[in-house]
Amino acid sequence: MSIFLILGTRPQIIKSAPIVLESSKQGLDIEIVHTGQHYDYKLSQVFLEEFSLPDPVINLDVGSGSHAFQTAEIILRLEKVLMANRPSLVIVPGDANSALAGGLAPVKLGIPIAHLEAGARSYEMRMAEEINRRLLDHCSDILFAPTVNCKDNLEKESVMGRIHVTGDTMFDVFLRFQEEVDGCNVLDQIGLAPNDYTLLTLHRAENVDDAKRLRGILNAIQDSKLNTIFPIHPRTKNRMEAQKMSLEDTNIRVIEPLGYVEILSLLKNSVMLLTDSGGLQKEAFWSKTPCITIRERTEWLETVQIGVNKLTGSDPDRIYQAINEVKERYDEIKNRFEFNPFGDGKSSIKIIKILKEIQ
Ligand code: UD1
Repeated sequence: MSIFLILGTRPQIIKSAPIVLESSKQGLDIEIVHTGQHYDYKLSQVFLEEFSLPDPVINLDVGSGSHAFQTAEIILRLEKVLMANRPSLVIVPGDANSALAGGLAPVKLGIPIAHLEAGARSYEMRMAEEINRRLLDHCSDILFAPTVNCKDNLEKESVMGRIHVTGDTMFDVFLRFQEEVDGCNVLDQIGLAPNDYTLLTLHRAENVDDAKRLRGILNAIQDSKLNTIFPIHPRTKNRMEAQKMSLEDTNIRVIEPLGYVEILSLLKNSVMLLTDSGGLQKEAFWSKTPCITIRERTEWLETVQIGVNKLTGSDPDRIYQAINEVKERYDEIKNRFEFNPFGDGKSSIKIIKILKEIQ
């Protein structure tokens, strides 16, 4: 009997890649089921190709829609697949709707689940992902916690499953692709010089679905006059188009979404990162790039405590001030990237070993 790994979004593919690659090395049979939550080439297929992952055995083709639609449809479609195939275990990475639905369907059929990136908490209860990961953690049999902080969160909530602190699989894949990142010529292609620009990403519903808030964030960055490059998520692009918001002739240059190696290359060579992404905060940390997180809270508190990640919420004044602070204290911040709480880059080896023991 094989193990199924359910994924459907860009960050889930990144988190899962080292697990799938390591499983084939260690002779463990893991098959990918894609929910279809992300369907654009640049949000999904490009990553499967970059990581040389096997094609998903099934694509549920759920597509976009409300949270209820997405979650319910995935559960319904996945249930049929699980009943026909009866995997011995289902692995679910992260906290997207595909993760929650990908966990609920097997649990209701009595199929055990393992949650990858368990115990991450932002304590922002309005954030869809916070709800998803909490529910998932409470019905998981196995919880792969990336950090000690995540394990502590799980213990505080008295989850029932077995917790393993393994390190972060995103760090594994980050290390694995360093050579490709260093050899990448995306800066030349875009016409950027190293250390001469800031990288911006924004896609959280809380920030981009509210036009006033989105305008305020972008205005603060325009006021800062930073040379800014902005690979835009389709959600953000759609919202901006609907609001007739344009960044033409400003210091913010919008480009299409990028692949994994390209975005890491842009990140490594940028002066700072402005983001509301969860994963990029960690990738900035490993790239030794100062980060400003346009959220009130973060799951990756360690990066804030170390002093290389600053939380601003969406308030334009706080964003503007944080940018100035990073500029003023740049050398001092750059010296703070020493301790890495995200493991040793071998978490996927540990995870596959644990999975083999229980198979
Ligand atoms: C989802 C995850 C989020 C993750 C993000 C990474 C949830 C609740 N959120 O947010 O945790 O950080 O993925 O990208 O699951 N769209 C396209 N093409 C696509 C996919 C989406 O154009 O391939 C557009 C559609 O207009 C869609 C919107 O983006 O309605 C939002 O997509 P959705 O999958 O609902 O959420 P994300 O914002 O991508």
